[in-house]
This record gives sequence, C-alpha cells and structure tokens, in this order.
Amino acid sequence: MAKINLNVNGKKYEVDIDPDTPVLWVLRDHLDLVGTKFGCGMAQCGACTVLLGDDAVRSCVLPVSNVQDKQITTIEGLSAEGDHPVQKAWLEHDVAQCGYCQAGQIMSAVGLLRKSPKPGEEEIAAAMHGNICRCGTYLRIRAAVMTAANS
Ligand code: FES
Ligand code: FES
Repeated sequence: MAKINLNVNGKKYEVDIDPDTPVLWVLRDHLDLVGTKFGCGMAQCGACTVLLGDDAVRSCVLPVSNVQDKQITTIEGLSAEGDHPVQKAWLEHDVAQCGYCQAGQIMSAVGLLRKSPKPGEEEIAAAMHGNICRCGTYLRIRAAVMTAANS
C-alpha cells in the first residue's frame, strides 16, 4: 500500500492503495465516480476512457501510481450541468441507446477535439475507432462529434 495524491476533476484526493491498482477502480470504488465504466479490462473497448491532461486514456490498464498529481478528468468533471458542447451535440443527435459505452465515447471525443478542434470525417472515425458500442450508435456518434466541432 502507498499514499497516492490524485487530482480528479479539479479536486485533490489522497488514497492509500496498492500502487498497481488501475485508475478505473480508484475512481469507481474509492472516489465514488461511477460514470466511468468497466467493459473489458484489457484496453479493448474504451468504456473506461478518461482524460489524462488532454489525452484520452484507458483507465482500466493505467496504474494509479502513474497518474500521481496529473490532471484526470472524468465524465462527471466535463461540466457542472451536463452542457459541455460534446454533451449537447450528443443530445441533439440522440446518440445513446443503452448508454453503457457513452461516457467513454464522449471522453474520447473530447480528447480528439482538444487536439484537433476541426477534425474531418476520417480523423473522427480513426479517433473513435477504439470505442466499442454494442448498440451500434457509431453513425450518430460521428455526426455528433462533427456537430460539436462546428459549435
Ligand atoms: S474497460 Fe477499459 S478499454 Fe475496456
Ligand atoms: S449505447 Fe449501448 S453500448 Fe453503446
């Protein structure tokens, strides 16, 4: 066990934990931030995506010791009212079905737009490629990312 300092959604935390614990479980089980979902646990589905700085990362395979004092943003930290431009675009396109993958999808989209504010269709498809949606909402996701980029 070790004391790890975390900065999540602009708040500082100290957790006493095995340093190899994946960030996903620290968020969900220790900080009660359950918007970030578990899907595969192997960096294959994107359900657990959060931002580390401006980078979309898979929190299920990221040891908490690697993120000490770095800025983590989860779906809960995007906006106080759920009105981040990407979230608004998601609503406009009525993207979600069951919703399970959607926090990860949105965080990947935000990561893309921070690096590339006006992506083309191919760039959007490439950036979102690793986020799996068992409900098949891919076309609406891509349209919503385009809308957010143009908002
Ligand atoms: S749960 Fe992390 S990529 Fe699937
Ligand atoms: S909306 Fe159901 S898994 Fe994507």
